[in-house]
Amino acid sequence: MSNLVERVLIIGLGLIGGSLAKALREQGCCGTVVGYDRDRDEMLAGLQLGVIDQVAENLAAEVEQANLIVLAVPVKATEEVLSQIKPYLSIETVLTDVGSTKGNVVEAARRVFGEIPDTFVPGHPIAGSEKSGVAAANSQLFNGYKVIITPLPESSASATRIVEQMWLQTGAIVLDMGVARHDEVLAATSHLPHILAFSLVDTLAKEEEKLDIFRYAAGGFRDFTRIAASDPTMWRDVCLANKEPLLKQLDSFTQGLAQLREAIEQGDSEMMLGTFTRAKAAREHFSRILSGTAYLDNMNTSNVVFRAQPGGSVTGTIRVPGDKSISHRSIMLGSLAEGVTEVTGFLEGEDALATLQAFRDMGVVIEGPHQGEVRIHGVGLHGLQAPPGPLYVGNSGTTIRLLSGLLAAQSFDTELSGDESLSKRPMERVAKPLRLMGAEIETGEGGRPPLKIKGGQSLQGIHYDMPMASAQVKSCLMLAGLYAEGTTSVTEPAPTRDHTERMLTGFGYSVGVDESTVSVQSGGKLTATNIDVPADISSATFFLVAAAITPDSDLTLEHVGINPTRVGVLNILRLMGADLELLNEREVGGEPVADIRIRYAPLKGIRVPEDQVPLAIDEFPALFVAACCAEGETVITGAEELRVKESDRIQVMVDGLKAVGADIEGTPDGAIIRGGQLTGGEVFAHGDHRIAMSFSIAALRSSGEIKINDCANVATSFPTFVDLANEVGLTIHKGEA
Ligand code: S3P
Repeated sequence: MSNLVERVLIIGLGLIGGSLAKALREQGCCGTVVGYDRDRDEMLAGLQLGVIDQVAENLAAEVEQANLIVLAVPVKATEEVLSQIKPYLSIETVLTDVGSTKGNVVEAARRVFGEIPDTFVPGHPIAGSEKSGVAAANSQLFNGYKVIITPLPESSASATRIVEQMWLQTGAIVLDMGVARHDEVLAATSHLPHILAFSLVDTLAKEEEKLDIFRYAAGGFRDFTRIAASDPTMWRDVCLANKEPLLKQLDSFTQGLAQLREAIEQGDSEMMLGTFTRAKAAREHFSRILSGTAYLDNMNTSNVVFRAQPGGSVTGTIRVPGDKSISHRSIMLGSLAEGVTEVTGFLEGEDALATLQAFRDMGVVIEGPHQGEVRIHGVGLHGLQAPPGPLYVGNSGTTIRLLSGLLAAQSFDTELSGDESLSKRPMERVAKPLRLMGAEIETGEGGRPPLKIKGGQSLQGIHYDMPMASAQVKSCLMLAGLYAEGTTSVTEPAPTRDHTERMLTGFGYSVGVDESTVSVQSGGKLTATNIDVPADISSATFFLVAAAITPDSDLTLEHVGINPTRVGVLNILRLMGADLELLNEREVGGEPVADIRIRYAPLKGIRVPEDQVPLAIDEFPALFVAACCAEGETVITGAEELRVKESDRIQVMVDGLKAVGADIEGTPDGAIIRGGQLTGGEVFAHGDHRIAMSFSIAALRSSGEIKINDCANVATSFPTFVDLANEVGLTIHKGEA
């Protein structure tokens, strides 16, 4: 590789300067690495330790010769060093620094140069350790860490590129930011915590029993105060240099601490729990919140790949995780209720967690989830608070659509956004009727997310004839109807899931149901209750189909929700000849449940009755697989809604099934599938959880492996899918491409 520059001069061989020199030297990307330090011993040590190629005996001459100069001196010394090197600086030499504050570095440069040279590109590596001096130089110090560069309006593109490339060579992740923003962000994320650590240790060290305190101080004290061992001079300088942003952060922290003090004094456990649960969630998920992704470990943007092995049979007794639709609604209605709602069996998947986080962001204290248990401290219908920023709901259509109805009626403005898949899904279906109620909602391009909802509107009840069979639209309008003047009613063209109606009733809110029309009136209240979430029939479906298509299978799925608006899959599988038995039918918290036993029986192709489509809408990807394993032809019609789910489920299933050897044809509103032998192959889930899981079970009847790409979103509804599948007899390896 050709050198980035021929000669780099690093001024200041402390931990950062030394580590950068060492990294650049190891990479061999900067010709000669010259080091200067006003402490001659440090400089010589740098040479001896192999940190630099040469020492700068004559600083002026080295400045003249260098193509790239890095100032790695304390921020306070920046002005003096810049004045010192200015007379020798060529107009071509790129200049950067590593100071942890940027505003004052830029001011210093302005004072020295008058007009800032276009070769100056300030920077700041967010890496370090409490160690200092050239002896601590570590070439890996920046590897995988972030470096912020703050190019100025004056900075040239070529100088910016060189500074960026230099940092990339060290393995750093380079980010670009404005100077003022940098200083605000750093005040919050670095400077404030350092001040707190110094202050805490200093305070405790003044106590008379300090020896005891330090002797018995275990994890907490040590973790919190590690950074109090950092260089005092440097931190004094940082405080001087970043005074205003730091004071702002200190004030808001002091205010938070005072509130917590008050809560402790008053024994206000709600306030304490609120602070601690919000902080815990934020701490656990902050990297994902930062990157605007998600809430679970296995959810990320990388390509999670499932390799489903051919063959096997499915046996045993399992309970799949909690129902997604009911989990969402338990958080929503629990938050709007008066009193504490306890939920068990809550689905700890990305989608439901997105709902949970949204309500935490709106000030609701929610404990858990811990092994499916959640305690929601309801704030009442009028107790939500403005969230601190846009609500990010990940992949979850239910969250965005139901929340839009609720938020349209709040006093504050909100914005709802989601991931790539959600950002392609239609939102006018909720925005349009909400506008008829008087809501002010802006959708993004093409009627898609983000949604911008204006608060403070007074809504009017309407009657709405829903053009499509959608429980999300119906529920959205019912939630808005809790606040709208008069009655809000919705007529559906075909029955859709009625969990909102049932749960509102469970919370003591009156809901009118008259054939295909539901109605609510405002003015009531929700009273906290306990909710036992049944296992999700949509998740159970993958195992129902798995057992139905695989000889020698005999599987029992426990405690599955069999709400009549959700059992399309059972009806369709029965029509196809599946051997299904419902055992131990009972009702929990207003929802019917049963254990479902399914044994292998040869399936036959059918024409799927259209009235079953809305009752099995999420189950079609798996039913497509069942049809491939049935004898004869299966015809699906009236299912155009499948095209606007987490992916275009008709197209994606047709493409994938063809790739694994199936005989299938897509139609605008369904598909025609002829059963036969599957061969295996490579397919793409397009970030759609149900597609990923459907192809996993298809392998049971294929002659070769099925490799499924883009499976990370299985975490949205069924984080434990692979483990459970392997437990009952499938063989799925999970990895990353
Ligand atoms: C859901 C309703 C359905 C379903 C989705 C969950 C709900 O969507 O596909 O997975 O919880 O209300 P539509 O309302 O768009 O049909």
